[in-house]
Amino acid sequence: MGYFKNITLSNFRNFENFNLDFFKTCNVFYGKNGSGKTNLLEALSLFTKGRGIRKESISNIIKKNSNNFIVKSDFNSFDINYNLTVESIQRNKRKIKSLNINNDSSKETIDNFYKVVPFLYFMPENERLFLSSPSNRRNFIDRFIFVHSHNYNNLINNYNKNLLERSNLISANQYDITWIKKIERNISEYALEIYFLREKQTKVLVKYLNYFLGKFNINYNVITRLVDKNYNTNLSIDNFANLLEQNRQEDSLLGGSKIGPHKSDYIFYVNNDFLVSQLSTGQQKTLILLIYLSQCKYLIDDLNIQPILLLDEICSHLDDINRKILLTLVESFNLQVFMTGTTKNLFSFLSTKTNFCNITD
Ligand SMILES: Nc1ncnc2c1ncn2[C@@H]1O[C@H](COP(=O)(O)OP(=O)(O)OP(=O)(O)O)[C@@H](O)[C@H]1O
Ligand SMILES: [Mg+2]
Repeated sequence: MGYFKNITLSNFRNFENFNLDFFKTCNVFYGKNGSGKTNLLEALSLFTKGRGIRKESISNIIKKNSNNFIVKSDFNSFDINYNLTVESIQRNKRKIKSLNINNDSSKETIDNFYKVVPFLYFMPENERLFLSSPSNRRNFIDRFIFVHSHNYNNLINNYNKNLLERSNLISANQYDITWIKKIERNISEYALEIYFLREKQTKVLVKYLNYFLGKFNINYNVITRLVDKNYNTNLSIDNFANLLEQNRQEDSLLGGSKIGPHKSDYIFYVNNDFLVSQLSTGQQKTLILLIYLSQCKYLIDDLNIQPILLLDEICSHLDDINRKILLTLVESFNLQVFMTGTTKNLFSFLSTKTNFCNITD
């Protein structure tokens, strides 16, 4: 399993110069509001593809009135040491992120490294998963897929790129028919692949979720339903391309495309007929924690992937059952875990040796 040994921050968010050693197991960042706990999780998350857990622009991450940030860490995976540096650099008029592994920043090295650090992260807003917008739920599921399917990001990007190109062409109303058909064909291929991967991900998630509901003696089942009036499992690439063609006129007036996986939603039900969003806040938290537990089980048991857990403010709404579930998530898989909270005593339920780091100091 992989783990971070330490971190050093320079001009990163509120930190001018800061360093910290980690445990291989559980690490808790505690301290008052605004002390930099979430910033530390964000710094770790920059060691994988993308702009980190907040999806912020790189220029906002640089400490105010400084030029660039640098974050360094020693990472170990199966006794191989990786010397990591991520920093902001100037590219034309923008700041971008640059990652360097053992003094190598070639695309091949970086892409291989991304597979070594699969982060699974929880943010406070994920607690509202069942109450929030369809796009938040789609993103949540997409994030889970991304942990095990590294090309998924490219798939989503390609889908969006082709949608945009179609949109531009049809709104200009002057297009080559062969070309637009080619683009609609691309969109259809990507769309079906996205539907398929999301379906597969939600299916296993719900399978393990129900397994854990039983384990924790919670006496109901959960199902999800895909809400998308154009999708069914028999839908073919040709069918989808035909639908796009039929909608071309309307889409040219309204912009975008009225069909596709960028429009669908996954609704969660208890026992087939009661919306999960109608459960109490704490009961919804139970399901969220179990969803993380389920995804860990899936990654570890089925896919042999050991994620690193970043859990920001996960300790709200913890009754005895939720505490037990969180304890299972944190301690039963032998993973490196990072958690945040305002006080140390929020974590008194932990039983293994925990690295408590007071960030206020
Ligand atoms: N670019 C920046 N330069 C300097 N300070 C920044 C920058 N971006 C954010 N900050 C500051 O970093 C501080 C810490 O933020 P962070 O979100 O990590 O706090 P936290 O410890 O997680 O707090 P909470 O308990 O409220 O979640 C905030 O006061 C914020 O204003
Ligand atoms: Mg925070």
